[in-house]
Amino acid sequence: MQDASNKAWSGRFAEPVSDLVKRFTASVEFDKRLAEFDIEGSLAHAQMLNKVGVLSDDDLSAISAGMAAILEEIRAGKFEWSVDLEDVHMNIERRLTDRIGDAGKRLHTGRSRNDQVATDVRLYLRAAIDTLVVLVKDLQSALIELAEKNIATAMPGFTHLQVAQPVTFGHHLLAYVEMLERDRERLIDGRKRVNRLPLGAAALAGTSYPIDRHMVASLLGFDGVCENSLDAVSDRDFAIEFCATASLIMTHLSRLSEELILWMNPRFGFIDLADRFCTGSSIMPQKKNPDIPELVRGKTGRINGNLMALLTLMKSQPLAYNKDNQEDKEPLFDTIDTLIATLRVYADMMRGVVVKPEAMRRALRQGFATATDLADYLVKRGLAFRDAHEAVAQAVRYAETARKDLAELTLVELRSFSPLIGEDIFEFLTIEGSLAARDHVGGTAPQQVKAAIARAKQRLTST
Ligand code: ARG
Repeated sequence: MQDASNKAWSGRFAEPVSDLVKRFTASVEFDKRLAEFDIEGSLAHAQMLNKVGVLSDDDLSAISAGMAAILEEIRAGKFEWSVDLEDVHMNIERRLTDRIGDAGKRLHTGRSRNDQVATDVRLYLRAAIDTLVVLVKDLQSALIELAEKNIATAMPGFTHLQVAQPVTFGHHLLAYVEMLERDRERLIDGRKRVNRLPLGAAALAGTSYPIDRHMVASLLGFDGVCENSLDAVSDRDFAIEFCATASLIMTHLSRLSEELILWMNPRFGFIDLADRFCTGSSIMPQKKNPDIPELVRGKTGRINGNLMALLTLMKSQPLAYNKDNQEDKEPLFDTIDTLIATLRVYADMMRGVVVKPEAMRRALRQGFATATDLADYLVKRGLAFRDAHEAVAQAVRYAETARKDLAELTLVELRSFSPLIGEDIFEFLTIEGSLAARDHVGGTAPQQVKAAIARAKQRLTST
């Protein structure tokens, strides 16, 4: 009989799995990135086993020293990962046993890979969330910096992608700061549900050793333990929730990307992106393409796909752990990697945006953006809104034929649409007048934008 410690398959089986099956079931290629967290979790588990008297002091020191050495090997890129050992957990455990002998074999007492992997993934995701919160914040800062320089820069606000009313560019950018603020809240809130300890659930039912789960939780910085062992090893809702938040972040960035692409088109010409964020064409020498926003828009699809993958993975799984759950890692890791890369490049890109206020103003004039202001003026002089709406519609039609903006019509021309119009009308028909009139919390008046920026900055420093 072969010695079980020298082969990857156990005494339960008469033959090893075929190479095909081995490769099909192995996860080490992608779960090896959990290594540092796997070691952290094992050390906490070992300390607890020692405290409750299940593991001797000598075993604990051997395990601690062995794990420290393994961690160094991994960091130095010298660790040899083996597909024969299936996953990150078995690779590390085997290496530990090779280094320290029997003490290594005692580490897995009172534990299963089921609660082990759930713990590793939670530790990994918690660290990723902490990184992402900082990156979202930095992108918010970049947007606020740009908004600050454009508190009073007038641009057309659109509905149906048709010129609607004047807004300031700063106000427009702050809309994205708000979206990202909610995203940041979602990340921080979801972290609470990530930050619970599965270890102790063992395979599914708990363990017969006198373990102290709260001790392990506090060693690993968890807020508490997963209350139910079956739930602890089987649910991945915390990862799904994170991926949903990721989808929303990408959705918001995809919308902004779409706008950047439009604004950069010469027909708009509202902005320019720094050259380092654009690429040329191999055939058309004149081209400057907004590749970064396009890629971000495209990557949103893949992040949504990852969310669908996890939802579908979980659906119909009976309690408790099933191997299906091994498939949680690649979509989750890909989501984290994509988000980190996207947020980094995006903040940098927003800091390189060149604004072209003349083009924005030109577009405003062509779009009769102050038509609502004329209607509001008439209402304030006693006309019912519907009648005012009709009078202004006729004025716009007239101005369009005359190829003039409303503000360029003479008083006599304007009065032909309503005798209520007086000389003061021109104050209201200017872009500045229109902006300044929307002077309430959430409005686009420059002084409101200024106040909104101050509040947004305050939020960034306090959370
Ligand atoms: N590699 C596995 C995973 O990612 C670890 C848990 C395996 N547990 C088991 N009983 N096969 O889910």
